[in-house]
Amino acid sequence: MLCWLRYDASMTARILDGRALARRIEAELAAKVAELPFRPGLAVVMVGENPASRIYVRNKERAALRVGFAAETLVLPASTTEQVLLSHIARLNDHPAIDGILVQLPLPSQIRPQAVVEAIDPAKDVDGFHPLNVGRLDAGAPAFAPCTPLGIMQLLAEADVALRGARAVVLGRSLIVGRPISRLLLAADATVTVVHSRTRDVAAECRRAEVLVAAVGRPEFVRGDWVASQAVVIDVGINRLPDGRLVGDVAFSECVDHAAAITPVPGGVGPMTIAALLQNTLRAAEKRRGVLPTHQ
Ligand code: GUN
Repeated sequence: MLCWLRYDASMTARILDGRALARRIEAELAAKVAELPFRPGLAVVMVGENPASRIYVRNKERAALRVGFAAETLVLPASTTEQVLLSHIARLNDHPAIDGILVQLPLPSQIRPQAVVEAIDPAKDVDGFHPLNVGRLDAGAPAFAPCTPLGIMQLLAEADVALRGARAVVLGRSLIVGRPISRLLLAADATVTVVHSRTRDVAAECRRAEVLVAAVGRPEFVRGDWVASQAVVIDVGINRLPDGRLVGDVAFSECVDHAAAITPVPGGVGPMTIAALLQNTLRAAEKRRGVLPTHQ
């Protein structure tokens, strides 16, 4: 168990290796899928040619194929109307071989993301963005939880981070990360503060954190002196700098000497998001096809 208060200036943070954990999860999933009498089916939909989204979508499809799922990626032109996208979703909702549907965000401005999210069958909503799943998660009921927060919770569990009663600070209030990770941390009995763009003293809030989750999408926003000694730091950001370097939302080199643990970028949260997507898809498939009761 990581201990918050012990301080030894010679210590450096434990690096939470999301790549290694994701690899282990994939191996477990592949073994399970090999035993199933069906192939779970995942449909990934992307609209437009956002280069970052292209890479994420390709990585999701490749991972799905690696564990033995059937995966279909649909790339629609940037000019696609909301109505056309909704008609594709309706088709995938009705498709018996498709267990999970993911529409990569962001979407072009002519398409309302909320309309898209609400059109996906909640039983196939492996992103956990449908209001039914959001509400169930909030109520502490069985739900599909969004993939990045699910992946983070598994990284914390793997590192034996004690969450009960811990002061957790979440930077960011997005539908994809900030809000749902705050719910999952609360469900794990942490004392959760959500910090956002209107928070008065962001640095002071961060300094109180025993567990800090940064999901603001701003390169190296969290400085070393915002991070308490022996805090656990989860960096959700993936930001490309003008010089081509990939950095997180946390200034890693300024924190690594005094944090208890920290996720690297890349190789921390990113691979865990994909692992959690695969887990959600398998669960959706097992529920839809009667291997698991639908209420689980
Ligand atoms: N864009 C950034 N992260 C995500 C994600 O987890 N799911 C989807 N659908 N889009 C994203």
